[in-house]
Amino acid sequence: MRLPTIVLNLKAYPEAFGKRGRALAKACESVAEDTGASIVLAPPMPSLADLARHVRLPVFGQHADAVEPGARTGWTPPEALREAGAAGTLLNHSERKIPRKNVVALVPRCRELGLEVILCADDLAEATSLAGLRPDYVAIEPPELIGGDVSVTSARPEVVAGAVERIHAVDARIGVLCGAGVKTTKDVRKAVELGTIGVLLASGVVIAKDPEKALRDLVKGLR
Ligand code: G3P
Repeated sequence: MRLPTIVLNLKAYPEAFGKRGRALAKACESVAEDTGASIVLAPPMPSLADLARHVRLPVFGQHADAVEPGARTGWTPPEALREAGAAGTLLNHSERKIPRKNVVALVPRCRELGLEVILCADDLAEATSLAGLRPDYVAIEPPELIGGDVSVTSARPEVVAGAVERIHAVDARIGVLCGAGVKTTKDVRKAVELGTIGVLLASGVVIAKDPEKALRDLVKGLR
């Protein structure tokens, strides 16, 4: 994905379902086309293929399962994400943690499939440990700040800066994202100033009164 970037995690908000999700994605596409900003969407799984086909933005999975394709009812192997048109996937989000052995298995498998991987970490120790798996990106998101109105960049700048330092000490090629409570241009700008390649966010756009306007304000922080 182009950097710096805003990765919009649509989670399981009803605003992201079906036709409403398509309309939200098209609004995000307009913002990206008008501003040149890099915006990536991580929609609910049922919408992924539709958005990959009809919206000119990279789409990522919110999760993938460490199972082989086959008789696996209700599971989503990374091959299914690729065939649906995904460019990558989040893994281990604090709202969808997976066992470490699954992360260990999925990172190389996604790489072989051409899927970029954003590993999500709750804290510095986890971020450092996950960096050792050499994903494309690590996103640090203190769970207690998720969904709130205080950005991780103002509440815990030392955690963001510390994550950049520790992750790059493991491998300088890994891009660092931060998220949780990111709501304003200033929050995004601060994230970039702290050394990240962008932010992972959700409620500041998905459930905003005017999602398109909210996103237009946020992308100004990438400049
Ligand atoms: O994946 C990003 C998400 O967990 C952050 O949520 O609502 O604080 O932007 P939010």
